[in-house]
Amino acid sequence: MTSHFAVFGHPIAHSLSPRIHAAYARANDIDLEYRAIDAAPEHFKDQLASFHRDGGAGANVTLPLKLQAYGYCTELSAAAQRAGTVNTLRRSAGGWSGHNTDGAGLIRDLTERHSLDLRDRRTLLLGAGGAARGVLWPLLDSGLRELVICNRTAETADRLADSVGDPARVHTRYWDDLAQQGSFDLIINATSAGHGDGAFSLPFSLIGARATCYDLSYGNAARSFIAWARAANAAQALDGLGMLVEQAAESFEFWHGVRPETEAVYAQLRASFLSDAAD
Ligand code: ATR
Repeated sequence: MTSHFAVFGHPIAHSLSPRIHAAYARANDIDLEYRAIDAAPEHFKDQLASFHRDGGAGANVTLPLKLQAYGYCTELSAAAQRAGTVNTLRRSAGGWSGHNTDGAGLIRDLTERHSLDLRDRRTLLLGAGGAARGVLWPLLDSGLRELVICNRTAETADRLADSVGDPARVHTRYWDDLAQQGSFDLIINATSAGHGDGAFSLPFSLIGARATCYDLSYGNAARSFIAWARAANAAQALDGLGMLVEQAAESFEFWHGVRPETEAVYAQLRASFLSDAAD
């Protein structure tokens, strides 16, 4: 029997998730339908309820609905509790179980696809919104030496750092003072600047000798940060396409109990992005 899955977001038309989950399902012989549902925040609750009534077994949730989804869960995984947001929902008898696979997806992309050892890295996290919260704890678990959080609105960064309660390892700096902070081994862009017209202008002095720069977004949204990292001669400048396929694999496992192979799907998407860029 076909089971029904979806990704909710607003906008959602360009989501790659239906394509990724269809490929994982084919490779694992699982019969499912996975579609994209555009849900404005004020309609999300009703649309989710109607998705459930029509047999929906699980869903991904993306911008701007992750915090709302957290509020609709009757059960939360440890990752979701720590992130305070949910990107994966699974229906059980008692309601929706919420999980957050973003952080695990990022770590898998960095450590397995790109073979990075994160231990002992001095790390800069740009942004303190939902995306930053989703990756903060898994990054800390991976053994970073120091995590500096920097956000355009300093108070939000302070609140995020305070929520960790490890001032020796996690602290904040003002955006305007970044030029005085020395260099970093890992710089993560978790801002949504690339989704608007926010061009990146950061001091090149942030880039350490082995620095990896990583944008949680991909495609056009990552372009400005990646261009900055390349201009600053970063050892690696990576977008979040790998994180996207890995977080999807984590969600797939949460629903189906099977961990899909991600490499073929990643290679296909990467190739289609490169050909888009050539158009
Ligand atoms: P998301 O779920 O994508 O994280 P969010 O919770 O709205 O979305 O957070 C957006 C983040 O990007 C915030 O940290 C925001 O900074 P503010 O807290 O100051 O708003 C950051 N951001 C958005 N546009 C930015 C820009 N042009 N330059 C720097 N940071 C920006």
